[in-house]
Amino acid sequence: MFKLDRKLIFSASVLAVAALFAVGCGGSSSATPVGSTSINGKATIDGGTIYPVVNGTTGPYAVNVNAHKGGFKYGKKPTQNEIDAWNKDVMPDGTGLPEGSGSVEEGEELYEAQCVMCHGDFGSGASGTAGGYPALSKGNAYELQKTMTNQRSGDNKDGDGPARAFGSYWPQTSTMWWYIQSGMPHPNTKSLSNDETYALTAYILNINEIIIDGVEVDDDYVLDREKFLKIHLPNEDGFVPNIDGPGALDDVRKFFANAKNFGGQNLNQGAVRCMKDCQADTVKTVYVSASGGIKDFNPPMSVVRDLPADKGPFDPIAAYEASCAACHAGYLSPGASEWAGYTGKGIEAVYKNGINGTEGGMPANGGSALTEKEFKLVVDYLIKGK
Ligand code: HEC
Ligand code: HEC
Repeated sequence: MFKLDRKLIFSASVLAVAALFAVGCGGSSSATPVGSTSINGKATIDGGTIYPVVNGTTGPYAVNVNAHKGGFKYGKKPTQNEIDAWNKDVMPDGTGLPEGSGSVEEGEELYEAQCVMCHGDFGSGASGTAGGYPALSKGNAYELQKTMTNQRSGDNKDGDGPARAFGSYWPQTSTMWWYIQSGMPHPNTKSLSNDETYALTAYILNINEIIIDGVEVDDDYVLDREKFLKIHLPNEDGFVPNIDGPGALDDVRKFFANAKNFGGQNLNQGAVRCMKDCQADTVKTVYVSASGGIKDFNPPMSVVRDLPADKGPFDPIAAYEASCAACHAGYLSPGASEWAGYTGKGIEAVYKNGINGTEGGMPANGGSALTEKEFKLVVDYLIKGK
């Protein structure tokens, strides 16, 4: 096994050298370098193409003879049906949303069978086996929506940030419906029917405690297209600018016309954009000092880095214990007379055999990460026993 690996590495490096030669220096497409084959009169290495030199330039970007040939031998053109299956939009106004219906109860069953292993009990995102997948609910959406403006600063330095989950954060439920049918369950996308997708959406609305048109989405709730279009999530106006709808473009223009909207409060010229001398004197500038880091940061940020602890002088005996004793404690042990059978060929040859390994079972460098200098010190210890 070990020998095989080395052989592979060797031949790979021959190829690499051959490739460098052919592309970097030779550039002639007629010569077939070592380790390459010839296909259609063109020399190739590992199936690759050697690009000709044109006007002193070569390389796949400058001279790609295949660029317009479409000669790739893998993949296939998707059929129109395949494209249509993926090219689906479900929009907030109902465009693309099919008819169908499903109940919270059916959704819960589907969820338990196909989603809970990743998204956790009740969408908590914290299942035992697969914690870390997105939470689909963090509790009552209307309560949690109020946390969207939470900043971890001032009085709330150590407090809670925004609790973002579908119910509290997403502006539209159409995204949810589309996402579930196009992308979930993660390993088996496009497997859910329209009714199943309605049922799962109903369940997710339920665990987020959403109210549709005055009616709580409780365990008996049946969601259909008509009711779906009446959903208003608490954070639907939480995104500025509002880039949905007919007024969207004007919204965006107005938003960016006001520098205050993108952090320009401290500009000298008030809320006018500027190209120089923009910061008012009142702006607090934070300097990183070489010794103390940023002091007014909590916890203080330090620019001082601890250097790795000094390991002290190299200790051959400790290295022997750690890397060699497993094999050398019995045979060829420190100071053993058997070493006489090895040292006859000269100490340099012994070092070399140790570093390269031997067929008799000595792994290269003893399988250790010792430097050459350290390895030799350990060999000296092995031979002398002190
Ligand atoms: C194998 C694990 C797995 C399974 C099973 C699975 N999901 Fe997901 N789900 C994920 C991952 C991972 C993401 C995040 C994907 C990303 O961000 O690109 C995700 C994201 C989501 C989101 C978007 C959440 C957000 O806030 O961004 C929804 C909604 C969702 N999944 C619903 C479902 C439903 C419904 C099912 C069952 C039909 C399901 N998932 C099954 C792994 C899974
Ligand atoms: C996995 C077992 C193993 C480990 C670990 C190991 N050795 Fe060896 N070593 C051997 C065996 C077996 C031989 C005898 C090989 C032979 O006769 O070809 C040997 C031989 C040697 C030789 C003599 C080489 C020669 O042919 O002249 C040196 C030097 C040596 N080991 C140094 C070390 C050092 C130093 C370490 C630790 C850093 C180490 N070995 C770790 C098994 C091991």
